[in-house]
Amino acid sequence: MKILGIETSCDDTSVAIVEDGRKILANVISSQIDIHNAFGGVVPEIASRCHLEFLIPTIEEALEKASLTMDDIDAVACTNRPGLIGALIVGVSAAKAIALSKNIPLIGIHHLEGHIYANWLMDEEIIFPCVCLVVSGGHSDIIYMKDHGQYEIMARTRDDAAGECFDKSARALGLGYPGGPIIDKYAQKGNPKAIIFPKGRIDNSLDFSFSGLKTAVLRYIEKNPDYVLEDVCASLEKDICDVLVKRTFEVSKIKQTKQILVAGGVAANSMLQRMMRERAEAKRVNICIPKPILCTDNAAMVASAAFFNYERGLSSGLDLDAIANEPLMSS
Ligand code: KG4
Ligand code: ZN
Repeated sequence: MKILGIETSCDDTSVAIVEDGRKILANVISSQIDIHNAFGGVVPEIASRCHLEFLIPTIEEALEKASLTMDDIDAVACTNRPGLIGALIVGVSAAKAIALSKNIPLIGIHHLEGHIYANWLMDEEIIFPCVCLVVSGGHSDIIYMKDHGQYEIMARTRDDAAGECFDKSARALGLGYPGGPIIDKYAQKGNPKAIIFPKGRIDNSLDFSFSGLKTAVLRYIEKNPDYVLEDVCASLEKDICDVLVKRTFEVSKIKQTKQILVAGGVAANSMLQRMMRERAEAKRVNICIPKPILCTDNAAMVASAAFFNYERGLSSGLDLDAIANEPLMSS
């Protein structure tokens, strides 16, 4: 089954074609980063207008890369929640038009479910039950997954997401947008033990808090105008990764799982990947981390999630709505 996926929830216009949920035939990403960079972050109206302009050429490019025509597509999937509403509406409208004109099923996907299913594109065996750390610009969640479509949120952030902490700190440091990949690059040349920022532990819960760390970075650079950028980046990154890894393995222990998945843009972080793999090896837990291009927003993950939903009999009507905010729920 070949599913054409569309992702327009934020600032990447992406179209992919995935076979049977696991084999990528095409995954085209038209990034708007250069356009939004001038504003220091994503401008929602500009994002919507760019999706409108880029989407059809991106669909054409994906079909061409896969050497297919629209007649070869068996179903169409789109991210319909959560995200920037104007951006989502562009992708949902296009998906509806394809479903209606080709008379094929339409499958609306939750963006976080999409991120999680990037793991199924890695050609690795995934064993249920598993624990998935989802870390992006908008979310930092630890999710227990008993089976396909079964989600129990075990931990979340009480304030900023991990990606937001990277992005806001990067802005304060005068680095560009998005901050995560830039901090990742500088951190590789810095000393992660150089600066001790306060830790963001909240009472006894498993939840995260990153806004204190972001504020600590701001205070530090104000007080130390001659700061070493590489050391600030490495120390900040280490603090973020430490807490993400620690909590994920705590949940894995509580739930007694032997499989950990990592997903979302921050999963592309090199220190996080290294620490996750090292801990997994020490604890003899199976780990899957998508390759960086599948960690950040892409449509292949949407098409993969759609396949596993459709296999369970789930699809959407042509009245599918775009929703700005909705937690991930079991289906
Ligand atoms: O999943 P994503 O592409 O979009 C959202 O759903 O939010 O995640 C984007 C986030 C941004 O905050 C970006 O700074 C972060 O992922 N990110 C990284 C890296 N690459 C992207 N953070 C740390 N290290 C990276 N290498
Ligand atoms: Zn995302």
